[in-house]
Amino acid sequence: MSERNSEDIIQDALFSSSVFKHGGERTLNQFYIPENLKYREDVIRRISQNFRPLFLSEKGGTEGFSTNIALTGPAGVGKTVTARYTVEHLQSMAMKYHIKLYTDYKNCWTARTKTSILRSFLRDQFGVASRGFSDEESTDILIRRLNSEQAYLILILDEVSVLPQKDIRGFIHLPEEFGSEHRISLIMISRPTEWKVTLSSMVSQRIADVLQFHPYSYDETREIFNYRSSLAFKSSAISEDIIDMVAEISDQTKNLRHGIETLYRAGRAADQRRMDELTPELIRRAKNDVFPEMRADILEELNTHELFAALSIARRLHHKGITATTIEHSFKNYRIICEEWNVRPNGEAAFRNYLATLETIGILGKVTKGVKGRKGVRARLTIHDVPAAVLIERIEVFISKRFEKE
Ligand SMILES: Nc1ncnc2c1ncn2[C@@H]1O[C@H](COP(=O)(O)OP(=O)(O)O)[C@@H](O)[C@H]1O
Ligand SMILES: [Mg+2]
Repeated sequence: MSERNSEDIIQDALFSSSVFKHGGERTLNQFYIPENLKYREDVIRRISQNFRPLFLSEKGGTEGFSTNIALTGPAGVGKTVTARYTVEHLQSMAMKYHIKLYTDYKNCWTARTKTSILRSFLRDQFGVASRGFSDEESTDILIRRLNSEQAYLILILDEVSVLPQKDIRGFIHLPEEFGSEHRISLIMISRPTEWKVTLSSMVSQRIADVLQFHPYSYDETREIFNYRSSLAFKSSAISEDIIDMVAEISDQTKNLRHGIETLYRAGRAADQRRMDELTPELIRRAKNDVFPEMRADILEELNTHELFAALSIARRLHHKGITATTIEHSFKNYRIICEEWNVRPNGEAAFRNYLATLETIGILGKVTKGVKGRKGVRARLTIHDVPAAVLIERIEVFISKRFEKE
């Protein structure tokens, strides 16, 4: 290859045309906050209203203000983005009114304790290296600092149920440590089940407002993807049909993230193949990559009975409102599936072994809490992040192929 050619390759890789608009790729990043959040006007308004006193207090708020609110709802319905969007706008509003307001966002999957959350806040916002400080010391620095600046803090704690309970309590009681002038407010985000099971009884008395997020309808989903594609892609690169497809992917799982990620991957793949538009085939492939824990090669490793076992659980969990099932119930389903495919079912002991395998390779969630029923404590089966509908579709396609070959 001549020198000239190699240079061309680099030139091309850097500047050749892309399906993305300039800077468009970034708009599909999970941290990107779009300018418009359609269909979330009501929650944006309600979150903001909770902070009215901050703006109404005299002289830019020397009287102290604190509130705790909670946002709950299933995955991919805009909880995180709406909280960040609203808090970002509250902050610019505060600037306009000369109110000193700090804001911070922490995902508790990343920052897993109160100590680490406080430390990283002190480091990032005040440049204080508080490593080795105790919780009390960190809290003390924070309080002094906010008091001396007459400043406020709104802290978003995302996936808050991941924190140890004592840390959640610690955060909730934090404002009291300020004495008479409260300065810290919390926005806690959690899935509904965790909210009901652990959080609500523990902290509900100290939560001023609980906002429920519901999944978007198909039409809303379609409209949101229309908007998000227009931010990310050149108009020549995307068609109505593609937007329909992506909306359907998200509508199937009621999770917007699945569609956004599919768009991102399909766009990258189009660029790699030097295609100038997204095609249905690219979308289909990208969709399969969005659930990496369900890569086809994982299914390859499973024998037919294990596949049936996975299917038996997925089918049960596909019913609306069912988040966990039992071994007895799945075993019944497994026998029905065997019948469907004309395979002789194995016994319950073998079935339990299949479940153990599925748990080991990560398709099945850990057999968690026992459910107390008439027959004593029973194991609870859940599946991992992959939506049941996707799991069912994949396993069924896979089994059909396997049976064709045999
Ligand atoms: N109303 C909306 N308009 C535009 N994009 C949205 C809207 N709601 C959610 N999104 C996008 O959908 C994805 C999932 O939203 P997210 O806030 O992460 O959901 P959750 O926190 O409920 O799991 C994100 O990429 C987000 O930007
Ligand atoms: Mg979230």
